[in-house]
Amino acid sequence: MSDKATLEYKGDKYEFPVIEGSENELAINIKTLRGASGMITIDPGYKNTGSCESAITFLDGEKGILSYRGYSIEELAEKADFLEVAYLLIFGELPNKEQLDKFHQDIKSESHVDEEMKKILDGFPKSAHPMGVLSSLTSALVAFNPESVDISSEKEMYDAIVTLLAKFPVLVAWAMRKKKGLPLDYGDDSLGYVENIHKMMFKKPNQEYKKNKIVIDALDKLLILHADHEQNCSTSTVRIVGSSHAGLFASISAGISALWGPLHGGANQAVLEMLEAIEADGGDTKKYMAKAKDKSDPFRLMGFGHRVYKNFDPRAKIIKVAADEVLNDLGIDDPILEIAKGLEQEALNDEYFVKRKLYPNVDFYSGIIYRALGIPTEMFTVMFALGRLPGWIAQWREMRLKNEPIGRPRQVYVGENLRPFVAVEKR
Ligand code: CMC
Repeated sequence: MSDKATLEYKGDKYEFPVIEGSENELAINIKTLRGASGMITIDPGYKNTGSCESAITFLDGEKGILSYRGYSIEELAEKADFLEVAYLLIFGELPNKEQLDKFHQDIKSESHVDEEMKKILDGFPKSAHPMGVLSSLTSALVAFNPESVDISSEKEMYDAIVTLLAKFPVLVAWAMRKKKGLPLDYGDDSLGYVENIHKMMFKKPNQEYKKNKIVIDALDKLLILHADHEQNCSTSTVRIVGSSHAGLFASISAGISALWGPLHGGANQAVLEMLEAIEADGGDTKKYMAKAKDKSDPFRLMGFGHRVYKNFDPRAKIIKVAADEVLNDLGIDDPILEIAKGLEQEALNDEYFVKRKLYPNVDFYSGIIYRALGIPTEMFTVMFALGRLPGWIAQWREMRLKNEPIGRPRQVYVGENLRPFVAVEKR
């Protein structure tokens, strides 16, 4: 196989090295293209553009494979817990017991949030979407932890990472408690990472918190499944903001905003709202299938399709089983699940969906579990952000350790050519 690719344009030939990833993916390195030829490439939506070399997450959209640092998502979801996966993603290897204990201990020692932050939260109306609240509070954290911005050693980087992993769940819990009118609280360091998150979210002021293993296990699994997904919209945002050395917290805050949109993380909320709307409209799934296929109708079947997975989304497979288990274990009979199953069956057998390789994605089933766990619909994307945090951090860390250049794409200008200014009275 040639290790060079040749581009020919108007009789001139340009050669570019072809690089191969550890899973045999090939890429043409066009670093010298503009210098040599004066041309750039254009690729709207970056469908064919690799922005970096990364050793964190591998996914094969055709085969439906997803792995973190070489471990399959199926095995991690079954055998690991979220904190272990976070460590694995960020530092590259599964932690031994001592490393894991230290990591958890370091997180616990940072698990308070400055009381002044409550005033910022207070300024939001109760109706504020929690993703906006979370993004703002994450950004505000910079002011209370200024040392996290200018990172010049791995120790400072580690401290910033641990600080964020510690404080972020508190912000998530506060965003939900504000919505529910519950008093703000801090965590309990005697608990596991995920159990503590659950307690911070749900503890009632007048009741003792009771651990529910089924709920904690389901939450753990969901967070693991969302923990990283290579160079998607929000992760690329984190990397590009981080590439200006804006600091970890500001980069993550930007990533939260990117995740918010309904074509990305916001899809889990959109799925549930869609299923509820179908139920309220009499449960006629065929009507909504027809709407999704009608090109004059902007409606899309939320939770279907994926930029990369063109066969099936391996996360959706695991979540589908987990959704059944959780609903069974908690004794919940949810008509929404029946509608979801009906839609799935119809789509899997429908020519429009089959031809375009549109399969249920991770968000199709995650909302159903979140709903069963008592998490309000508007918080679904916040839960996605909570799961994605270690992935964002890992990608940011990888980029900073490699000292990657500032992200700055080019464009093809198609506007007016230079023209004389016209005074306002002459326009
Ligand atoms: N319902 C109906 N038609 C669809 C859908 C859908 N959900 N998704 C794609 N299509 C059609 C689309 O209209 C187009 O048709 P045509 O070729 O006739 O023009 C074709 O399929 C290809 O779609 P695309 O928009 O070019 O594909 P994309 O790779 O740019 O978009 C997507 C991927 C995920 C944004 C899109 O499938 C979508 O909008 N899905 C619904 C939203 C959703 O569930 N998003 C969550 C993604 S998973 C979580 C995450 O990782 O963020």
